[in-house]
Amino acid sequence: MRHGTADDRVGIGLAVTERGDKGLGVGHQFAAAGGRDDDAAVVLGDEIFGKPAGVEDCVAVCRALEQEGVTAVVLSGGLVSHSAFHLLRGARPLRSMIAVEKSPLQKLALMLFGPLFVPIVPYQPTFFLPLARQVRAAVKIPLVYLGGATSLAELEALHATEGFELVAMGRALLREPDLLRRYARGEARTSRCNHCNECVAEMDREGGLACSEEPGQLERRAREVADKKHLAVCR
Ligand SMILES: Cc1cc2nc3c(=O)[nH]c(=O)nc-3n(C[C@H](O)[C@H](O)[C@H](O)COP(=O)(O)O)c2cc1C
Ligand code: SF4
Repeated sequence: MRHGTADDRVGIGLAVTERGDKGLGVGHQFAAAGGRDDDAAVVLGDEIFGKPAGVEDCVAVCRALEQEGVTAVVLSGGLVSHSAFHLLRGARPLRSMIAVEKSPLQKLALMLFGPLFVPIVPYQPTFFLPLARQVRAAVKIPLVYLGGATSLAELEALHATEGFELVAMGRALLREPDLLRRYARGEARTSRCNHCNECVAEMDREGGLACSEEPGQLERRAREVADKKHLAVCR
């Protein structure tokens, strides 16, 4: 199964807008963007129409995708029209964001206006569930839940009670890549991710993404940078 990219999202948005929200041609537009109708998992954000979209727009697109035979949809919360942390929730690592910002102008803007333009959005477990439920109720197409799913109990409830076929996990697996194996072996029931969101800034450091709370990951990244191994990954 292939994940749609941000470019695919633009293609889908255009197709739906041009066809008067009927959704006709959505799958074909997706295919033109490089996917295949029969193995596509499409990622939906909140800018699918080229403008901020609500959950009702998301439902309309999901219905269209269902009709077109798309295999599954990954529900997401977009990014651009909301604050940066709408999609993440939790702490705002402004100091680190300023430290890693390369553009002097952006750095200054972040220092002066960061607290204003990057508001803190408190973390709640499975924070997109109220919205995702509305999509679940509207379509039968397999849906991938995303957003604040971390503990074993949450994963079980999302599948068994809420009816999502799959769950996508971001930060919990970044912090503990072996988390699901530990759940399966009964060695853990919750994630150690504390939603500090420092990993957002870590992405821009040399060597790339790492969990700032895991010294082992930071040490490995430092070793890779010293050995120039990270360059091989970037190429
Ligand atoms: C370091 C980092 C980078 C991310 N980059 C993107 C991105 O480029 N595009 C995107 O749509 N979401 C991005 N996300 C958001 C995740 O896809 C996901 O929506 C978010 O982390 C919430 O899921 P979680 O609670 O399981 O972490 C990123 C998240 C993290 C932590
Ligand atoms: S830096 Fe680590 S602990 Fe903090 S949010 Fe990212 S994955 Fe979670």
